[in-house]
Amino acid sequence: MKLKYALLVLSAALSFNASAQAPIVIKFSHVVATDTPKGQAAERFKQLAEKATNGRVKVEVYPNSQLYKDKEELEALQLGAVQMLAPSLAKFGPLGVKEFEVFDLPYIFPSKAALYNVTEGEIGKSLLKKLEPKGITGLAYWDNGFKVMSANKPLRTPADFRGLKMRIQSSKVLDAQMRALGANPQVLAFSEVYQALQTGVVDGTENPPSNMYTQKMHEVQKYVTVSNHGYLGYAVIVNKKFWDGLPADIRTALDQAMKDATTFEKAIAQRDNDLALEAIKKTGKTEVYMLNAQQQAEWRKALLPVQTQMESRIGAGLISAINKQAGK
Ligand code: LMR
Repeated sequence: MKLKYALLVLSAALSFNASAQAPIVIKFSHVVATDTPKGQAAERFKQLAEKATNGRVKVEVYPNSQLYKDKEELEALQLGAVQMLAPSLAKFGPLGVKEFEVFDLPYIFPSKAALYNVTEGEIGKSLLKKLEPKGITGLAYWDNGFKVMSANKPLRTPADFRGLKMRIQSSKVLDAQMRALGANPQVLAFSEVYQALQTGVVDGTENPPSNMYTQKMHEVQKYVTVSNHGYLGYAVIVNKKFWDGLPADIRTALDQAMKDATTFEKAIAQRDNDLALEAIKKTGKTEVYMLNAQQQAEWRKALLPVQTQMESRIGAGLISAINKQAGK
């Protein structure tokens, strides 16, 4: 009897030990290449998190839509099939949090400094809070950059967009933006863009140069216009139940790892985009065009009304608060 009891205690102790040693796994899924600002920061977060927790946390990064595409990844996060994502701010509308589309408004941020005032201030915080009722906790904003436009014809003035099929992310603001240019917007998952451009399903698209180059979109787009008409950035998000259920010391370590990965990400984003634009130029296959002052004025005239048009969707208060912060 005594022996049986001792064996029971021993096996309970062994199984407790095994479960105590099993790492907590964070599956971090994203849709871009590893050598983009987001891709590199995801890897940096993995290194920092695993080190800071002495291996009690294991971060598995799945880049390039390997695991899930745009829409699926948000569903997977809510279901707990993945724990961490960093979708672009243009992709939260279908989740019912339309306010994030404010980041897509043409010319809303005159500079990165104006953007950081928003993402690092009260507005940024209150936007992340809106995700909580959806079972999502927002941890940080990650940067990418200002967007360029591309097609197989030169895009110099708004009139050049007339009738073009332009791929957009799922944001209604981006839909309005393309319509304001006279184009026909088409929502497609990021993973489908290259092929859609190659086969003529769409004629053109927009993205910061780092995304365009790493997906080789320039190989199927003869013209790129550096228009800086809009911004692309990310929110790093986690499944709230998973996050709240972590031991407090682990959560603290992960918070710090996320802070450090975010600092890293913001430091590399602009440089990566500058390098990508240079690399596109160097291929000699795609003409990279810089708008002159008059063309810039024409673009602004065509696109600025989108800010007013979208007030009913996003909230006039939010738009004017951001414009005010930017000194407009
Ligand atoms: C896109 O879908 O165009 C991009 O925003 C993808 C990304 O996550 O950068």
